[in-house]
Amino acid sequence: MASSSSSSIPLLSIFLLCSAFISFVPKETEARAYSCVSSIISEKLFNDIFLHKDNNACPAKQFYTYDSFIQATNSFPKFGGTGSPAIRRREIAAFLAQISHETTGGWATAPDGPYAWGLCFKEEISPQSNYCDAGNKDWPCSPGKSYHGRGPIQLSWNYNYGPAGKALKFDGLNNPETVSNNSVIAFKTALWFWMTEQLPKPSCHNVMIGRYKPTQADIAANRTAGYGLVTNIINGGLECGRPDDNRVNDRVGYFKRYAALFNVSTGPNLDCAYQKSF
Ligand SMILES: *[C@@H]1O[C@H](CO)[C@@H](O)[C@H](O)[C@H]1NC(C)=O
Ligand SMILES: *[C@@H]1O[C@H](CO)[C@@H](O)[C@H](O)[C@H]1NC(C)=O
Ligand SMILES: *[C@@H]1O[C@H](CO)[C@@H](O)[C@H](O)[C@H]1NC(C)=O
Repeated sequence: MASSSSSSIPLLSIFLLCSAFISFVPKETEARAYSCVSSIISEKLFNDIFLHKDNNACPAKQFYTYDSFIQATNSFPKFGGTGSPAIRRREIAAFLAQISHETTGGWATAPDGPYAWGLCFKEEISPQSNYCDAGNKDWPCSPGKSYHGRGPIQLSWNYNYGPAGKALKFDGLNNPETVSNNSVIAFKTALWFWMTEQLPKPSCHNVMIGRYKPTQADIAANRTAGYGLVTNIINGGLECGRPDDNRVNDRVGYFKRYAALFNVSTGPNLDCAYQKSF
């Protein structure tokens, strides 16, 4: 696994290697020897971002590792591998910010601030239901199984566990627990959600790399490109179309901190206060 050793490779060859790598790698190929993402985020930067993920107070202590993150990205070579260096850094910062909000252990006066506590949880605490949409016949729930939030993106609902498992080669409907006991699969479910378009929504990936093409309905709903639109894709029904939402502010706070660590601007439209949900 290429990791922090990449710092010894001159920048130009990293760029060429990554570009060549992307052009001949088929979609969702397993285990690659080289990840473009590891040339953008070193283990040190990863640990500076997730300052408290292994804190004793965090239930996910020692579950989410740099190596499992990099290994998961090898299945998604276009993630952090498309567009200019700044666009790649911004996409990775946005992804890490969103998963940080989903798993945050931070609070206003937390050590190192509220945005130093991403990846603290791997499983939703006190789920209010088993998140089974029984009306969904394509992805039928398995008796006794619960599809509550698990992993970095807090994957939820049978209609997400089913297709995620199919794409990533695990049985999401019968063994949803895999997402909270296999760190590589956990990261892969988050990347799968990020990369996969679920109509009428665009993919988070296409929004962050500038490939989102709004429909007439999107334009009428103020769904303009930016980090706020990614929030709308993830949880717009609950969080968008309302000013100054605490959850949205937390997502934005994480993104601002991470964008600074990646030396990249956040871009416009950070919130979704005036967007309708999908
Ligand atoms: C992890 O999840 C799988 C799939 O449900 C299960 O078979 C296994 O027992 C779990 N392992 C642990 C350590 O919880
Ligand atoms: C679009 O945004 C503007 C403010 O920028 C707001 O006045 C308007 O109500 C929004 N439209 C919708 C459909 O939310
Ligand atoms: C950001 O800039 C600092 C200071 O120049 C540098 O040390 C660091 O490696 C840069 N980080 C990234 C991800 O480019």
